[in-house]
Amino acid sequence: MTINSQDTHNFNISDKFQDIAPFGEVVGYGAERVVFAAASDPKHFVVKVCIGDTDAINIQEYSNYSMLRWNFSKWVAPCRLLEHEGRQLLIMDRTYPTEPCNYPQHIPQLFLDIKKHNWGMLRSSVVCHDYHKVKKTTSWKKGGMRYVDWQTMPR
Ligand SMILES: Nc1ncnc2c1ncn2[C@@H]1O[C@H](COP(=O)(O)OP(=O)(O)O)[C@@H](O)[C@H]1O
Ligand SMILES: [Mg+2]
Repeated sequence: MTINSQDTHNFNISDKFQDIAPFGEVVGYGAERVVFAAASDPKHFVVKVCIGDTDAINIQEYSNYSMLRWNFSKWVAPCRLLEHEGRQLLIMDRTYPTEPCNYPQHIPQLFLDIKKHNWGMLRSSVVCHDYHKVKKTTSWKKGGMRYVDWQTMPR
């Protein structure tokens, strides 16, 4: 199945997936993925589907999570990879939008794609839900923290 980027701006996109998974409403879209509430538990989980033919970004994000979960679990929304009819779907804990004043002022250096929309509230803390781009050159454990001025960050 091929999905083009124009489709991501069409909220009827979910119709295209009825045949492959029980998705709920669209909760967001980025340049590379469209994100649905999971029909089975829409409050707590989302399903992330790559736009286009390759699922490499979902696979990369899951691979990053399998490393980050040991020392950086408080910074990321947990995810699992689900193969479904030839597609690699990412099932991730659902986060919720919040004010920039709730965001952490310092975050680990390893995050490379820093945008407000890549973070959201999960239980009582703000975590990253788009971490397919992370710094690999430094050790996962080291690398330090950086200050982020969220007010001036792009959406
Ligand atoms: N775990 C999540 N919970 C709630 N909304 C999410 C989650 N992951 C992504 N989203 C929403 O979907 C949008 C696109 O997802 P994202 O992972 O950023 O895709 P892309 O890799 O294409 O940028 C996000 O900006 C956000 O609004
Ligand atoms: Mg994003």
